[in-house]
Amino acid sequence: MTLDRRFPSVLEWQEGARRRVPKFAYEFLVGGIGEERGICANRSALQAVELLPHYIGDDFTPELGHSLFGQAFSAPFGVAPFGLDGLIWPRMVQHIAGAARRADIPIVMSSFATTTLEEVRALGGENAWFQLYVLKDREKNRSFVERAARAGYKTLVLTVDIPTVTRRRRDIRNGLSVPPAPNLRTYWEVLKRPAWAIETLRAGRPEFKTLLDYVPEGLSLAELGAYLAEETSCIVTIDRIREIRDLWKGRLIIKGILSETDAKHSFELGADGLWISNHGGRQLDAAPTPVSVLPGIRKAVGREIPIMVDSGVRDGLDVARMMALGADFVFLGRAFIYAVAAMGEKGADHAMFVLTEELRMTLGQIGCRRPSDLPAHLVAASE
Ligand code: FNR
Repeated sequence: MTLDRRFPSVLEWQEGARRRVPKFAYEFLVGGIGEERGICANRSALQAVELLPHYIGDDFTPELGHSLFGQAFSAPFGVAPFGLDGLIWPRMVQHIAGAARRADIPIVMSSFATTTLEEVRALGGENAWFQLYVLKDREKNRSFVERAARAGYKTLVLTVDIPTVTRRRRDIRNGLSVPPAPNLRTYWEVLKRPAWAIETLRAGRPEFKTLLDYVPEGLSLAELGAYLAEETSCIVTIDRIREIRDLWKGRLIIKGILSETDAKHSFELGADGLWISNHGGRQLDAAPTPVSVLPGIRKAVGREIPIMVDSGVRDGLDVARMMALGADFVFLGRAFIYAVAAMGEKGADHAMFVLTEELRMTLGQIGCRRPSDLPAHLVAASE
């Protein structure tokens, strides 16, 4: 059976991931904060966005190519940053970086990835961006930012939405740790997922490879986890953003924006782009959905500054919905992760193929020539 028949949509990718990934890692991936209302809200808000078809008109073929910051991409979507990737599926981010380069879409490498930022830059080429979690220690921030520039990154995504350590209930129940704690329950979960176990043995145990240079030596695993959580959970103050802005000569995008105030601050502090996100429902269960705040933020900052968005996007139709609401570019996290967990390396290429086809079909179906014309099809705007 072809890959497309087995895995035609994100539903099958997620189900494949559930079957192949041990429970502690799968729950880390799907889970959110609190009662996980935010995850449901992200989906239902997107599902409520309607697009108006214009069936009668000229004959045309939709053009999906889209530019951001003067760089041309094959489509207006990319891969959001995600940490602990190697725990979910070995070499996850490496597979996705290669596929993003082939598909010519951006991939954002997380500070918390289980590989080095240099390796992802080499695999992703110009399509690779780097995501920074600010560390409390200024000198470490400086060295981290300089290292990203030396590796060749041109775009830095500064995530601001983890001011405190969170308590995700599933992870607490599962005793999540990196690498997995060697106890009977973990062994049992791993035994039930042999493909994951074999791949993990081949790839070696997952570690925060990019962050290793910034942690004290000789810490036990538990101490390391606590140290990183503490060191990266800090308020990204105006001064901290100024410092990063001064250090980083490339493009700076601020991720985790939900309010017009933060959007304006970011703009005033010299950000080149804003990234509206509620972290996929993983930080604050009462956070608004990007769908609900995007139109207001767009109005507040005008057309001058590019707005990126993520959270809850699961297919090409959702990408079109976000663009119709005023986004310049759309990112997906879990959808890509599910695909690689379900299908391995080829899952990344397959996900990009399916998302592209879904977007192409959506544009064709509503009579829209290019992604930037999508706002004209938003039902609220058209009535
Ligand atoms: C994330 N996200 C995230 N964001 C970030 O800036 N740095 C990070 O290291 C991570 N890590 C991470 C791990 C996992 C497993 C997930 C699911 C998410 C948030 C991510 O970039 C993005 O905002 C959300 O994933 C978007 O929501 P969807 O597409 O997953 O619904």
